[in-house]
Amino acid sequence: MMSTVQAWPEPVIRVQHLSDSGIRVIPDRYVKKPVDQPGAVAAAASEGADIPVIDMEGLSSGDAGVTAALIDQACREWGFFQVANHGVSPGLMARCREAWREFFQLPLAEKQRYANSPATYEGYGSRLGVEKGISLDWSDYFFLHFLPIGLRDENKWPTLPVSCRELAAEYSREVVELCGKLMKILSRNLGLKEDYLLEAFGGEEELGACMRVNYYPKCPQPDRTLGLSSHSDPGGMTLLYSDENVSGLQVRRGDTWITVKPQPNTFIVNLGDQLQILSNANYKSVEHRVIVNSAKERVSLAFFYNPKGDKVIKPAEELVSPGQPQRYSPTTYNDYRLYIRMKGPCGKSQVESL
Ligand code: OGA
Ligand code: NI
Repeated sequence: MMSTVQAWPEPVIRVQHLSDSGIRVIPDRYVKKPVDQPGAVAAAASEGADIPVIDMEGLSSGDAGVTAALIDQACREWGFFQVANHGVSPGLMARCREAWREFFQLPLAEKQRYANSPATYEGYGSRLGVEKGISLDWSDYFFLHFLPIGLRDENKWPTLPVSCRELAAEYSREVVELCGKLMKILSRNLGLKEDYLLEAFGGEEELGACMRVNYYPKCPQPDRTLGLSSHSDPGGMTLLYSDENVSGLQVRRGDTWITVKPQPNTFIVNLGDQLQILSNANYKSVEHRVIVNSAKERVSLAFFYNPKGDKVIKPAEELVSPGQPQRYSPTTYNDYRLYIRMKGPCGKSQVESL
């Protein structure tokens, strides 16, 4: 069983309203250590570099092998890639994101009806972790479960804007389908049977899917803080849809941070820790973080596709040999999350809510 803490250790401050109050100096709690501040590492080395952009239309043409190989290479070298022509309706994507933007633009009192607690994290939140006095990130979020169906509670989803619930449900249906396609491609690329990864996650009936809608308000001192501190995603795979005209996501590449240039109608796909384990480290779950800016707020929809919590996850036997020893011992995703929590906020992975 996951241990649960019912309440936040101190009053929760909504970053959006801090931002709207017109402050010129951010409270100390949001100021990161100098090494973690956005400007700490010279960006020069990474100028112009970006994660691969892959057109999935190539999979249904004569170039299917080439496209699959590009995805394989991205999984090995970056742990990140963007996908275009992925089959999810661009109109639905935009409508869903804008509905969530409208939610965040509602008066504070309306949003507070959905205020979350660390017991499940579902709802409107502004912090991760219950340690008193921890450093805070410059963002608010809304967290909700889609799968397994037993965890889904639409009563906890916003009723305003009126289209929000329906759009979220439709969005999750289409994104889950895309995740299924990607799981097949990744399985084949690893030399496994096509259904291997989906089955390892517990199959369609039991796998987990949840979403964190992130809201990064404008920040008067963007050089001193982060929208989201550095972490790797602990789960299976993440599909991120963000504002196409405001960048913010940075991916670790050696000693530097690469700022991802968002493209319209694409998803940014990244592999989580469970896929690194299942692939016996052939695929990488890479650290990333979010920077903020003083000119524009940014909305992103982070969709997490995860193994069933109590299913044992271990490297695929096909990927273990005398030359490639088994890199991880078997563990469940639930136990893994507990282990990350115990390591505390310095661990590689620190997204506690997922
Ligand atoms: C996350 C995440 C990135 C972003 O929610 O885990 O990494 O750009 N989000 O919002
Ligand atoms: Ni993340």
